[in-house]
Amino acid sequence: MLFLFWGKELNGVSAIQLEDILYKVDETPILTGITGSFAEGAITTLVGPSGAGKTTLLKLCNGLLSPDEGRMTVLGKAIGDYEPTDLRRTVGMALQQAPMIPGTVYDNLNLPAVLKGETLREEEAGRLLQDVGLGPEYLKREADELSGGQQQKVSVARTLVNRPRILLLDEITSSLDRTSVKEVEELIQSINKKYKVTIIWITHNLEQAIGIGDSIWVMMDGELVDAGDRTILQSPRTERVRQFVEGERV
Ligand SMILES: Nc1ncnc2c1ncn2[C@@H]1O[C@H](COP(=O)(O)OP(=O)(O)O)[C@@H](O)[C@H]1O
Ligand SMILES: [Mg+2]
Repeated sequence: MLFLFWGKELNGVSAIQLEDILYKVDETPILTGITGSFAEGAITTLVGPSGAGKTTLLKLCNGLLSPDEGRMTVLGKAIGDYEPTDLRRTVGMALQQAPMIPGTVYDNLNLPAVLKGETLREEEAGRLLQDVGLGPEYLKREADELSGGQQQKVSVARTLVNRPRILLLDEITSSLDRTSVKEVEELIQSINKKYKVTIIWITHNLEQAIGIGDSIWVMMDGELVDAGDRTILQSPRTERVRQFVEGERV
């Protein structure tokens, strides 16, 4: 395929490489023949119709699911060679619904540390909040009193506690207002630059996919149908992608 191992590889290593991935539920293939790579240090946006298999692909990338066939490496190491908890810390994930536990913002940021039997220092918690554009005064606020945009920022800050090398984002701005969407886009870009975290971002917003992505993947019916720079959405190379882009415009 033309897009085999697409991507600007900043230091020669792909953050994640997939080779001929098949994933089935019972006997139904959900993902078939997925071959490609996510360049280390880059932002890749992932688009496609609902049900295309985008979320399933991200779940394979952090070991929540395992492929039935094919090979996957994360930072050059076979995914099966990782301890599951180590993989989950290396590859963080944030979801559309930013689930907050009852308690303060600090309690929420402390959660990943607690799960490791540790405690997050308040100073460190404040620094993480700063990374997502919230002041230290938020540490004592009740998490459920924050706006959706603020909760999503806390959720992103919480994924940073484990210092992930790769961050998977599943439609994290879908339920936010325009201003919050812009803010979250900017904070993800700044995290990508500051910590060199590889970002893989599912979005149904094509404008966002084009504006944010160094590379773009288009998935349909469980397949990777195209990958490349913004031109693959601006001037689609296949009828299938053209129809998808047209459909999203209305
Ligand atoms: N556990 C499951 N059991 C049955 N079908 C599933 C399961 N998980 C996902 N699917 C199906 O796989 C397809 C891809 O789902 P998903 O990865 O969530 O797509 P997307 O994120 O692109 O909307 C959908 O048709 C969905 O119904
Ligand atoms: Mg999904």
